[in-house]
Amino acid sequence: MSEFAVLETAEEVAANAAAEIAEAIRAGSRTLVLAGGTTPRRCYELLARLDVAWGRVTVLFGDERCVAPDHPDSNYRMAREALLDHVAPATVHRIPGELGPDEAAAAYSRVVAGLAPLDIVVLGIGEDGHTASLFPGDAAVNARGWAVGIRNSPKPPPERVTLTLQALRGAHQVLILATGAGKAQAVSMAKRQEVPSGMIAGARWLLDRAAAGQ
Ligand code: 6PG
Repeated sequence: MSEFAVLETAEEVAANAAAEIAEAIRAGSRTLVLAGGTTPRRCYELLARLDVAWGRVTVLFGDERCVAPDHPDSNYRMAREALLDHVAPATVHRIPGELGPDEAAAAYSRVVAGLAPLDIVVLGIGEDGHTASLFPGDAAVNARGWAVGIRNSPKPPPERVTLTLQALRGAHQVLILATGAGKAQAVSMAKRQEVPSGMIAGARWLLDRAAAGQ
């Protein structure tokens, strides 16, 4: 069963998520998987200020848009600016989205295969209930293996690479962040396991009151 924690504000969600990630690393987590999106971004900014033994941590990504790593849409670029430029992880494995969905997914699958099971995965959700780049109704939701290419994402850009549900489900700890009233309907669909974000049993959700529909 997933667990839903409701906090007052988006800022509290970001701060709690950052604190929980730092604590997981202190307790021995060695692989940290980052998400894209504005909700995770604030969490990374706060995480950069916490006392963490980054030299023990390998950073990966849950999904990437098929753009160059310095493109404004790049999840890697966002994570670099908010977190990775300010700390010194042992290794950072970005998804090489610029190779296109298929080649990048194949390359990333090999990286994840060598590191799995993943320790702590951070995810955001979309208003349609997607998580990482697993969109409701897309065949990729049923993909096997570690990573899969996406060509028709309803959220731009259309070409992406994402970890599979199978990869996310195998992680030791999954933290899903959702804030704002725009996410409330997606959260209720997830509670009914109707959308990909609701299909990771055992995930811990951090919501603000608005996303919780309160
Ligand atoms: C992406 C993401 C995606 C994101 C959610 C939430 O690459 O777009 O990884 O899954 O985390 O869409 O994004 P927001 O926090 O910006 O709403």
